[in-house]
Amino acid sequence: MAPQDALLGWDEDANAEAYEAFTRAHPMYDATSRDLARRAGLADAHLVVDLCGGAGATARAILDLVPARARVVSVDSAAAMQRVGRRALDGHRLSWITAPAERLAEHVPVGGVDAVVCNSAIWKTDTPAVFAAVARALRPGGSFAFNIGGGFAGVRHPDEDTVRTGPSLNTLIHQVAARDHGYTPPPKAADTAPKLPLSMVTAQLATAGLALVDTEVTAQHGTMAEKKAWLSLPLFARPTDGGFTHAQRMEILEAAYALTSPGTPIVTSWLVVVAQRPEDTP
Ligand SMILES: C[S@@+](CC[C@H](N)C(=O)[O-])C[C@H]1O[C@@H](n2cnc3c(N)ncnc32)[C@H](O)[C@@H]1O
Repeated sequence: MAPQDALLGWDEDANAEAYEAFTRAHPMYDATSRDLARRAGLADAHLVVDLCGGAGATARAILDLVPARARVVSVDSAAAMQRVGRRALDGHRLSWITAPAERLAEHVPVGGVDAVVCNSAIWKTDTPAVFAAVARALRPGGSFAFNIGGGFAGVRHPDEDTVRTGPSLNTLIHQVAARDHGYTPPPKAADTAPKLPLSMVTAQLATAGLALVDTEVTAQHGTMAEKKAWLSLPLFARPTDGGFTHAQRMEILEAAYALTSPGTPIVTSWLVVVAQRPEDTP
């Protein structure tokens, strides 16, 4: 069984196919990609990098906003994700580089990139190394837009509390696993500090020579049906521990989902960050 949401998992054909199908059927990754692409200010761009671009959902959003002459380079370490993306997207203005984000500067003209966009991935990377690579790749004045899942950044949009209409699907999954399979969750780790809070991002950006331009905690509104589809992907299925097979996880998911209704609203929080390579001073 592939490690969940780990680099190896992304590089498996079945996972890549399932992920890409999800991005086509549900607005979640499209919506966050469009938001970032808009914030990156791409109207005059010649060369834009889609960092950790996966199967191309973010590249699609970038291509919609750049001028017709602009080129987009999608960089990801998982060849399987890129195989799926290549098949689905027109290669005329988009090229694919299979490489870790940390080595971006080895694959693009140094100082020649107008913008770097990274949707739903940065916390999986070695951020000090990635920020340094982005700083080398960007031209002076070039922009870097990325987002961090609310749990990883330690932020929560107020809509999560106002819109909430019952226990989350995650909570129900764990309850059903306990009820039907005797599952006991692992003891809570003593250190529950967020993995990538804004204070850490700010310090790491400064060390890399990038200036923080804007941050915002955003709320993404979806439905229980979308959340169920997302939790059906082997990369994200729960419980992650307890030695369950994927079939067992899907059985637990169905039972948990039966306790909800498809249209129940779901809110996901994101910390959105825009940084810039400062203009050269004369
Ligand atoms: C949730 S997907 C996001 C893909 C795309 N940006 C989108 O919005 O659909 C996360 C991607 O990050 C990639 N990834 C994770 N760590 C990486 C790293 N250090 N370097 C390059 N890619 C990485 C994975 O291979 C995967 O394709």
